[in-house]
Amino acid sequence: MSKKISDVTWKQFQKLPLIEKTPYLMQSDGAPYHTLFAQQFGFGLLEQLALLANEIRAIAKTRAGTEFLRAQATHKRAMLYFSQPSSRTFLSFMSACQILGVPTGEVRDTSISSEFKGESREDSVRTFSSYFDLIIMRTPEKGLAEHMAWVLSNSDRPIPIINAGSGQDQHPTQALLDIYTLLRSFEHKGGLRDRTVLFCGDLLRGRTVRSLSYLLTNYPNIKQVFVAPEPLQVGEDVLAVLTAKNVAFERTDDFRAAIPLADAVYMTRIQDEWDTDKGESAKIDTSRFKFGLEELGLLPQRSIIMHPLPRRDEIATDVDSDPRAMYWRQMRNGMWIRTALIAMTFGCEKRIHDYYRQNY
Ligand code: NCD
Repeated sequence: MSKKISDVTWKQFQKLPLIEKTPYLMQSDGAPYHTLFAQQFGFGLLEQLALLANEIRAIAKTRAGTEFLRAQATHKRAMLYFSQPSSRTFLSFMSACQILGVPTGEVRDTSISSEFKGESREDSVRTFSSYFDLIIMRTPEKGLAEHMAWVLSNSDRPIPIINAGSGQDQHPTQALLDIYTLLRSFEHKGGLRDRTVLFCGDLLRGRTVRSLSYLLTNYPNIKQVFVAPEPLQVGEDVLAVLTAKNVAFERTDDFRAAIPLADAVYMTRIQDEWDTDKGESAKIDTSRFKFGLEELGLLPQRSIIMHPLPRRDEIATDVDSDPRAMYWRQMRNGMWIRTALIAMTFGCEKRIHDYYRQNY
């Protein structure tokens, strides 16, 4: 059931637990309106999105299909507001918009926007909403996308917001593409159930881990293993969610002992841009948390290796040619699932399903 976000004050909305915020962010048919955090996506919606992404992927293989898709949302325009470094997520969203025929505009450097003249974020975002029908937003601040969603929903031109990464907090669309990759990888091998997913690297500050860990709780019997040096171990907030949902998990710093039991190894980069005291990450010994040929030798044949990218040296390039290395395919999956999300946000999914049924 959807509720109207304009019926609550920002303070009231802000205080709600994430799960209680969800009804305020959805459309009456259950599709997302604002996409702000992973907790909005339950099993049914994830299935719908994956199905739509599969259809879009198939349709896009032909010229006629590409032209059909490109006609779906030509009446909508999207703003890419990325005030934090990004290449793949930015281009992935831009490509997703292009697939649906949605023209885009962008602000990537706030030092050349009017924010530099002292304009508030609220005013900047309201300005964008005058020209666009969707804002896709990446910012270093936790909760900013959420606040802007509330601001816009209370303005005279409400438009949806998609969170493309908010500080160390959440990266819901990365989690969608990670789930889509897991679903596709295990599609003919019994599905996404009864698996062990191993997270390795900077689990404290990596927002992709926080979002994916939550989405995995929608699937039956998925154990989560967190492998990190102690100072970068996963936060208590993530573990509290798993405990409340009765999800099995383990924390360890013994990467090599954990690999043979993993169905998926999700590697992450050390997020040293968040160091408070310059260079503190460099003092942590991360040498045992890298995936090279020796680790590959410990990984079962059925298993996969994932990474949200960009990588540094946490996965050796020697591993790239192994069929279990899924990270390049994972990135392309991102484009399809983001196209599906935008299509749903704009209410185009029925036409896409119909086209698919008629032609495949
Ligand atoms: C991730 C991010 O921005 O959180 N990148 C991405 O969107 N694929 C991961 C990272 O930067 O390490």
